[in-house]
Amino acid sequence: MKFLWGAATSAHQIEGYNSRNDWWEWEQLGKIEGGVLSGKATDHFHRFREDIRLAAELKLNSYRFSIEWSRIEPERGKWDPSAIAWYLDLITECERHGILPMATLHHFTSPAWFTAQGGFAQRAAPDLFLNFVKKVVEVMGHRVFHWCTFNEPMVLVIGSYLAGFMPPAEFDPRRANHAIHNLLRAHVLAYDWIHQEAAERGSPVEVGLAHNFIDFRPDRVWHPLEWALTWSLSKFYNWSWIEAVLGRSQNFEVAGVLPNIRPVKEAQGRRSVDFLGVNYYTKGYLRWQPKTKEAGNTAQLPFGISFARRQEAMSDVGWAIHPRGFRRVLKGAARYGLPIYVTENGIADRDDAHRAEFIRQHLLEIARAIEKGADIRGYYYWSLLDNFEWIKGFGPRFGLYHVDYETFERRAHPSADYYRAVIAAHGSQQAPQAEHLRMTRIVGKK
Ligand code: FCB
Repeated sequence: MKFLWGAATSAHQIEGYNSRNDWWEWEQLGKIEGGVLSGKATDHFHRFREDIRLAAELKLNSYRFSIEWSRIEPERGKWDPSAIAWYLDLITECERHGILPMATLHHFTSPAWFTAQGGFAQRAAPDLFLNFVKKVVEVMGHRVFHWCTFNEPMVLVIGSYLAGFMPPAEFDPRRANHAIHNLLRAHVLAYDWIHQEAAERGSPVEVGLAHNFIDFRPDRVWHPLEWALTWSLSKFYNWSWIEAVLGRSQNFEVAGVLPNIRPVKEAQGRRSVDFLGVNYYTKGYLRWQPKTKEAGNTAQLPFGISFARRQEAMSDVGWAIHPRGFRRVLKGAARYGLPIYVTENGIADRDDAHRAEFIRQHLLEIARAIEKGADIRGYYYWSLLDNFEWIKGFGPRFGLYHVDYETFERRAHPSADYYRAVIAAHGSQQAPQAEHLRMTRIVGKK
């Protein structure tokens, strides 16, 4: 089986000029750190040919990108043929370089018209999303084998309706609840549609979703409530979506915060993914802190989270470098027996001081998991190039390629050379080998 060596991006973070979605509008309200706007982002819109060539130079055999719904359907029911043509060109470019595209249908952004109507909290959301999916599959279905319906639906719901870091940034558990129901239903409708189309064409296809995992820990090991919190948040955050798309249970309840969802009939008692997409970055220390009235909008949840302790090795955004958590997450995901793609893993590291070692350590965990029987079929480093990191703006730099935001010039980091060397050493097709990774020299480390 061919192993997919890849890198991941998303439309709004790199393309630029995405003025028809909810994020763009939210940015105009000054919601991004430093008041910045996504604007031209990395100007990938004009430079995608160069970017795919850069991916090819790393010897990647796959590339995960997302299709911007608001470009394809800028107004409800109105399709933009030039946007469709652009994505077809992007796919052609991948094909020319022997790079297998993995397409994500929704990566955090929604058309402004859709959000104005209530976003995923509205009852019509699954059908509206399905209309978009139908259009995409009609024109690109025969050229994309791997589909992710949603990127991190859990993060989307928390960011939009519970924790305030994504539009519309409301604290509204009831809407969070409706959004989970509608996202799950939208996922299943998309899954079925993509399969039905593929069956009619007689071409094989794999559909899944990319799910964010955090290795939760109690902040204070002696604190029983924090252990309970760790247990229940792991169950909710890491596994409730997985259990739901496997048709095992639909339990999204968090005592005292979220009531359970109204069941999605279409998802009951059946599997609606062909693979598990694992996005993994870091750990999360959970601290019990009863709600206080004075704390205002941000402290409506009865706990706090931090992603590293002061003394720990961490990324530029304060996320602990924690490959051991990746081991636990892969072990947990592997027990379901489905193929796994690591759809995102990466580090914000402006100076490129830790990136190569970060990649090496995480690939080593993949190699170990495979030795123990996990069916891991691909790894997508986040991200191919520096980009617009949502509410944090352009500060965090996750790229294998550095981007100069004035000239838009791309420059390979030493860690990109390291990643290329690792891929080359594996003959571009084989899964990560522990023996090899233990021995490789880190070129990126300073
Ligand atoms: C993930 C998102 C991705 C990027 C990375 C750093 O949660 O899917 O868009 O922002 O984090």
